Amino acid sequence: MKWIVCQGYETMCQKAGEQFKAFLSQKPDGVLGLATGSSPLGLYDYFARQTAAGAMDFSRVTTFNLDEYVPMAEDHPQSYRYFMDHNLFSRINIDPGNTFVPKGEETLSCSEYDQMIRKRGGIDLQLLGVGHNGHIGFNEPGERLIAGTHITKLAPSTLSANARFFGEGERVPDKAVTMGMATIMSAKEILVLIGGRDKHPVVNALLDDGVTTHCPATFLKLHPRVTIYCDKEAYEG
Ligand code: GLP
Repeated sequence: MKWIVCQGYETMCQKAGEQFKAFLSQKPDGVLGLATGSSPLGLYDYFARQTAAGAMDFSRVTTFNLDEYVPMAEDHPQSYRYFMDHNLFSRINIDPGNTFVPKGEETLSCSEYDQMIRKRGGIDLQLLGVGHNGHIGFNEPGERLIAGTHITKLAPSTLSANARFFGEGERVPDKAVTMGMATIMSAKEILVLIGGRDKHPVVNALLDDGVTTHCPATFLKLHPRVTIYCDKEAYEG
């Protein structure tokens, strides 16, 4: 794993953005894996600014998002589809038909999502944030992790962490559909954003030598091409 420790959140997003920019200049029709949450917001601002300046071109890019709540309608303001449309897709020159977010209806076929990724040649560069409990996507800590895209029950700590995005009295869905560990690990390259002192325990778990289902992010140690961009607060605690 390559670590890039930055002074603060803005520098972290700038540096990560430069890696995406360099990647797309090499492969303008690349397949990106994308994430939601607060961590990527600065990076998505960078993409929007670069697109406006004509310095990044997403016209031939395909994207696959990590996860979505279940049950969740696509047009619900808390859906990850809405999040992506609002925070990124509407601000860059991407073809909406090339943006994929798992569907939050219970009838969906999860294996179809993995097939779609494979059909597009696999993910070239996967963006990840990490949960406070070490989850990636919505692969929560436990005795057992799941390989493919699947529906999962969210951990109580995830529910309370994500409650901040919902209005008062609004219920946070307690299930989600998420890319599985193998889906994520089969990306050719992975870029992780970790910001804030509260993520320091996850940084520690990534810095030691252990790999454990109780901190799914530690599986990233088994991947040959991972770059972690983190700020000083997350790194030093
Ligand atoms: C969420 C998402 C993850 C995200 C993580 C961290 O629950 N499912 O994909 O990376 O938690 O979120 P944040 O960046 O807001 O800390």
